[in-house]
Amino acid sequence: MEGKNEDKLVLVTGGGGYLGSVLIGDLLNQGYKVRLFDNFMYGLDSIANFINHPNLEVIIGDIRKNEDLKKAVSNDVDSVVHLAAIVGDPACAIQADVAVETNFISAIRLARMCRDNDISRFIFASTCSVYGASETEILDEDSNLNPISLYAETKIDAEKDILVLLDKQPAPTILRFGTLYGLSPRMRFDLVINYFTKKALKDKELKIFGGEQWRPFLHVSDAAKAIQLVLESPIEKINREIFNVGSTNENYQMKEIGEIIKTCIPDVIINHIKEIKDKRSYRVSFDKIERTLGFNTSMTVRDGILEIKEAIESGKIANPDDPKYYNYHG
Ligand SMILES: NC(=O)c1ccc[n+]([C@@H]2O[C@H](COP(=O)([O-])OP(=O)(O)OC[C@H]3O[C@@H](n4cnc5c(N)ncnc54)[C@H](O)[C@@H]3O)[C@@H](O)[C@H]2O)c1
Repeated sequence: MEGKNEDKLVLVTGGGGYLGSVLIGDLLNQGYKVRLFDNFMYGLDSIANFINHPNLEVIIGDIRKNEDLKKAVSNDVDSVVHLAAIVGDPACAIQADVAVETNFISAIRLARMCRDNDISRFIFASTCSVYGASETEILDEDSNLNPISLYAETKIDAEKDILVLLDKQPAPTILRFGTLYGLSPRMRFDLVINYFTKKALKDKELKIFGGEQWRPFLHVSDAAKAIQLVLESPIEKINREIFNVGSTNENYQMKEIGEIIKTCIPDVIINHIKEIKDKRSYRVSFDKIERTLGFNTSMTVRDGILEIKEAIESGKIANPDDPKYYNYHG
């Protein structure tokens, strides 16, 4: 698409990642100019399909290095979407110092640089993991945060300081995404829906620990759609706002996820184990983003399972056990 977006330069940090590589494809299709900044810790394959696009500039750099960031942040950038991070509880736990430096300290340094460079919007990728282990009531953006991992703590610290620091310009928006799933040019099989689908297909057996825990799920393409909506919404609607991103109908208990997997892959055996390995449980309201910005999701967990199943069965993803698909090797 050509037209209204062609004069807008968007800097996407972490643009080579699972969400970033879907977002970059969408932004280029919509006519944006995109500057992608990433250290490509999971390789460059994710951007193979658009690396030569005339509207794409790629900067290979480390968000923790001031001199690298300076190459990315310039005053011709209209908006910044900050996705680069050490992502997930296990990945952060095994490299705590790197996680804090990347997810918190570097996010604040980047926000400060954006403030000094006349940038109009700053979108920060946070997570519904900030709600941690909560009771069964439905949580909204004003609910208490109860993080139970370093990953969630780094995101909360960054959220708070970004909102203090960016009191005039750029307009900051915090997006707390549900747990993502679905196909991406940088596939991740360490995310629960993707992992369960792979495991059910390959091993014909799945263990569900606990099962009562609530989690909201969001297709990676819907997450990218939400970011674009924030880029295009009137600034007064998104300035200094926190939005949970997902659909209230897509909150599930883990045992329900097992049932949906079974309807898509009927020969799997589901074993329910009483022990709870992941104590996170949160059920989230997504009314604010729907009410304020008119955001609706297009995909369901079932759609995601079916598309991943097709990708594995058809050989589009030849070896889902390849280490490049995992942020953490347990
Ligand atoms: N995947 C989810 O379920 C989920 C849910 C909620 C929020 N989020 C947030 O969305 C964002 C993207 O997550 P993702 O799933 O795409 O993860 P990902 O790990 O696939 O992507 C992160 C990207 O950041 C890059 N990166 C890491 N350290 C860097 C550094 N020092 N310098 C430059 N680049 C660096 C990586 O190379 C990678 O491309 C993250 O901020 C994450 O916290 C993700």
